[in-house]
Amino acid sequence: MTRPIDVIRTRSQTHCHMSKRIHIATYGCQMNEYESDRTFRLFHDKEGYEWTHDPTKADLVLYNTCSIRDKADQKAFSAIGLLRSTKLTRPEMVIAVGGCMAQMQGKEIQKKFPYVDLVFGTHQWNHLPELVRKVQVEKEKILEIDLYGWKNYNFLPYRQSVASHPISEFVTIQNGCNKFCTFCLVPFTRGREMSRSPKEIMEEVHELANMGVREVMLLGQNVNAYGKDQRFDLSFTDLLKKVCEINGLERLRFMTSHPAELTFEMIDVMADQEKICEHLHLPLQSGSDMILQKMNRGYDMAQYRKIVQYLRKKIPTLSLTTDLIVAFPGETEENFERTLDAIREFEFEDSFSFCYSPRPHTKAAQWTEAFNPPEVCNERLSRLQKLQNEIRDRKNQAWVGKEVQVLVEGEAKKGEGMLTGKNRENVAVNFLGTKDWIGKLIDVKITKALPHSLLGATL
Ligand code: SAH
Ligand code: SF4
Ligand code: F3S
Repeated sequence: MTRPIDVIRTRSQTHCHMSKRIHIATYGCQMNEYESDRTFRLFHDKEGYEWTHDPTKADLVLYNTCSIRDKADQKAFSAIGLLRSTKLTRPEMVIAVGGCMAQMQGKEIQKKFPYVDLVFGTHQWNHLPELVRKVQVEKEKILEIDLYGWKNYNFLPYRQSVASHPISEFVTIQNGCNKFCTFCLVPFTRGREMSRSPKEIMEEVHELANMGVREVMLLGQNVNAYGKDQRFDLSFTDLLKKVCEINGLERLRFMTSHPAELTFEMIDVMADQEKICEHLHLPLQSGSDMILQKMNRGYDMAQYRKIVQYLRKKIPTLSLTTDLIVAFPGETEENFERTLDAIREFEFEDSFSFCYSPRPHTKAAQWTEAFNPPEVCNERLSRLQKLQNEIRDRKNQAWVGKEVQVLVEGEAKKGEGMLTGKNRENVAVNFLGTKDWIGKLIDVKITKALPHSLLGATL
């Protein structure tokens, strides 16, 4: 699920002062995390950079930004602002700002932060080393935000070496979006839907599996539309089946699904393929047909209900999560109550809910009617979250006493000897164990439910 929170990935730090150091600050969704990760490897493997946690000590600082809501823009702005004084004392450091917010506001960034050296968009990741070298050699400021389009779309090179050995990894299979929901900036930030080549995807998952990765999450803003751009003769279900054949891979997930594109055939494949986990993130956005229509979502409650009924029938243990927008323009109290009804009806295991944020260029931002003030939104949001938390707590409580399969990802942050991983339904489970279990599937009996995780014990 695209959960626009700050993600600054931590990596093992090296203290070699001879090599150049890179710091990447990542905002936004998992696709950004994936691109940051690949970009780190690109600079590490091909350019000899080492990771540093401290941006003020880096030779290259990269901000991978998000623009989904106004808050996301603000977060990046304040982070970039903090580096002003460092750049004054270390002018040779390269500051680069890229990704979705930079795609939208490239020129403004240059004006606001004249000490930023390089501004790039969402289609430049492959060229970054060249662009950075150009900055270093020619000492000039660069703005490069062309959307190259699918014809020229190629992806970052495969990884060649890694310092850490993750157990669960993202793999982007598609970039961009054609849906143009009236509130959403993604079609503008990432351009049209582009499927990545099946050959590249397969090679990458193979390589990950060989390195010890046991679980992969396939990423895209609308993964169900994979293949529809007809660049490659393969559908989303074909791709899922092919990836499931990869030896060593134990679990497969994908995100984000769109209710207007998720077919019964895809659900059948989910149900039939043992490796595909029993979790689906299916953003509903609103429980009011009138609002869904204004959002240009392309489905109504009746259609969403049909999908959920089929899902629950075919995959009885499914965990279903969603995204919801509150106080969309024109949303009345009554419309909002339909969203609460939907939460009660579908009993989402969890949901991510946001106040509507008007985004420049989008249709909804141009409407002058019935904007809901922030007080109204906050009040609705807190009622919604209270209801969702009750359902989530009840669902988490229901795990107590049950046996679950956990893929151990590493040591838990808290607790001596505690390991952490997820069950197939995507809930975090912590339990006592030994480090050699990392990367293994372990049967765990749940002993206690916490708000965002479960505690368990081995049998
Ligand atoms: N492609 C995914 C969602 C991508 S954005 C989909 O179609 O569902 C992730 C979430 O951010 C969305 O599901 C939506 O709930 C929220 N979001 C997007 N634009 C927003 C805006 N302008 N204001 C508030 N929330 C927004
Ligand atoms: Fe945005 Fe809609 Fe595309 Fe999702 S489907 S990325 S919400 S335009
Ligand atoms: Fe944000 Fe771009 Fe992802 S706007 S949510 S980083 S696609």
